[in-house]
Amino acid sequence: MSNTSAEKQHSRSGTFTDNMKLPVHRWFRYSAGFSAKWVEQEIQRHCRDGKEKINVLDPFSGSGTTLLAAEAVQAKAVGFEPHPFIHRVAQAKLGWGNTDTYQLQKMAEEILKKAQERNTEGERPNALDAPLLKKCFTDDSLNKLDALKDVFLADFDNGTAEHELLWLCITSILRPCSTAGTAQWQYVLPNKKKAKVSDPFSAFSLKMNQLIDDIGIVGRQGWLSGAQILRTDARDPQYTAEDSFDLVITSPPYPNNYDYADATRLEMTFWGEITGWSELHSSVRQYLLRSCSQHSAKERLQLDILLEDDVLSPIADELTKACRELEQIRLTKGGKKTYHTMAAAYFTDLGNVFHALRPLCKKDGRMCFVIGDSAPYGIYLAVDKWLGELALAAGFTSYSFEKLRDRNIKWKNRKHRVPLQEGRLWIEG
Ligand SMILES: C[S@@+](CC[C@H](N)C(=O)[O-])C[C@H]1O[C@@H](n2cnc3c(N)ncnc32)[C@H](O)[C@@H]1O
Repeated sequence: MSNTSAEKQHSRSGTFTDNMKLPVHRWFRYSAGFSAKWVEQEIQRHCRDGKEKINVLDPFSGSGTTLLAAEAVQAKAVGFEPHPFIHRVAQAKLGWGNTDTYQLQKMAEEILKKAQERNTEGERPNALDAPLLKKCFTDDSLNKLDALKDVFLADFDNGTAEHELLWLCITSILRPCSTAGTAQWQYVLPNKKKAKVSDPFSAFSLKMNQLIDDIGIVGRQGWLSGAQILRTDARDPQYTAEDSFDLVITSPPYPNNYDYADATRLEMTFWGEITGWSELHSSVRQYLLRSCSQHSAKERLQLDILLEDDVLSPIADELTKACRELEQIRLTKGGKKTYHTMAAAYFTDLGNVFHALRPLCKKDGRMCFVIGDSAPYGIYLAVDKWLGELALAAGFTSYSFEKLRDRNIKWKNRKHRVPLQEGRLWIEG
């Protein structure tokens, strides 16, 4: 590989881009994941450090990149993910090892046939009429998607590995079949139109072929199935296993106002899990780390109370200064975003995560947090240093930061010029 392409690959290892070429990983595109190949290398490096079989944990599993990478190199792995929809996506992907591809193929053919018949007959008992869906799909596509959904819910929604893959297959064709643009971080932009739009029935067949091919590929590659993903909160995981994990590889939400609940609004609306944006908090956001201002605003957090939390004591001076500045600056901004309470809540949450991880990890273990710093309203939040200090206070022994790339985030209310970076926070002990 040339120097430039190796460098590009290195800087992209904090993103999901390369995973779209990999079997199973590519079944669902998710934001802010990282490269599975890099995870595999880290696991193998850790094994070479003297450990034959290691246990891997990803407390912010998302769509399951770490867990699947562990399976690819025959390591055992456990993950946590409280976002109900993303948990289901990851669970469906991890079900590859229990899937009978012959049955899956037969079921997929049956769904398609029934959906085609239903579409011609014009039957639409559960018509998809949410405004977001109407903005994102043509009537023809919506009718076809509606038919696929109806047949699935009527005959195939019983939770087997095959059924969950049928659900994933329908879920993952929604964006390719939508006329709306999606930003690279996956919010839907109904007013931006795409040039290339797939037909739902063809997209369903193509995606199903990919699923079936990939299960064959990873079977031949000798992946070890059986990684677990628990629908639980990394701040207080409902999981007990003292000194279990040798290696933690993860990427928590960054304090950059990205709303993971909103990231699946299209899909959750399609499946009838929410009727609109206002339901995202009760259905999803309330379970997640407080990393966006929608979250802190909704909870009406009080800065004084947040800053009194003992978990913040190692970073109290610097964090308080930044939060107080944000508290003042917001008064000069039309939108008045609650970044001041978001920042305090974010570091409280991650402090609690480190305390929860300490008993689960071996004393000679290692953790890698892929993180990004941020500067809401231009006020710099030193994420790498502050998270490192919070980890030490929770009982880990040392930390260091390895930069991967510079980031230049344009905040909605102001284009600031604070240099930002993304990289790996290594935590030992
Ligand atoms: C940067 S993404 C991780 C992406 C992941 N590496 C992948 O392969 O898809 C962060 C994830 O943390 C999840 N998350 C948010 N709050 C959480 C919490 N309290 N406990 C565990 N996970 C949480 C989000 O739902 C999101 O899926």
